Amino acid sequence: MSYQIAIDGPAGAGKSTIAKEIAKRLGFIYVDTGAMYRAMALYLLRRGIPADSPEEISAASQKADITIAYRDGLQQVLLDGENVTSLLRTEEVGNMASASSANPDVREKLVELQRLLADRENVVMDGRDIGTCVLPHADVKIYLTASAACRAKRRYDELTAKGEACDLEVIEADIRKRDHQDMTREHSPLRQAEDAVLLDSSDLTIAQVVENILALVN
Ligand code: DC
Repeated sequence: MSYQIAIDGPAGAGKSTIAKEIAKRLGFIYVDTGAMYRAMALYLLRRGIPADSPEEISAASQKADITIAYRDGLQQVLLDGENVTSLLRTEEVGNMASASSANPDVREKLVELQRLLADRENVVMDGRDIGTCVLPHADVKIYLTASAACRAKRRYDELTAKGEACDLEVIEADIRKRDHQDMTREHSPLRQAEDAVLLDSSDLTIAQVVENILALVN
């Protein structure tokens, strides 16, 4: 049996940074499920599919070929064979991902891929529904959160460091909107699994969160 660590939480809580570090320390693979929803969103955006048309999203999503590969230990997302990893972390793609991930056909397709990966390898998997839906029997479940203001500031710093022009207030409004969409959707909404450990990273360093999780694993 593979060993499974599930990390769920809202956008900007630090899930990917922390999950990557845990995976490195334990020699596990890191599975970023948000990137899969983002690749699907990119596919839909490229085809001009409207975010508010569930029928068109359902139909188009079944034609998208999304696969995962690893290069130097880092997850790469392939969309119809094209490595789209560097195109996924924009606000436009994130907003479309939040909208289209509410679609049950999109979720079914990507959850199947996620379970396949977790069956084959020891994983640290992050997302919104890993502990509640994708890997209900995960060995360790974490619900990682932080205040919306704190998460917005982190996203702002991340985008600014990449040289992207952005506005802190717009980012915080986007984060609140995305939280609301992710937490209130009908299918697999974001929530803490009953057996998940709650960690609030607002006043913790990355190293402190990592140590907390490693202590739980040990
Ligand atoms: O973590 P992220 O910002 O890359 O995720 C992008 C969107 O994908 C997010 O708004 C919700 C959705 N998502 C999801 O519904 N389920 C997951 N397991 C991961 C992400």
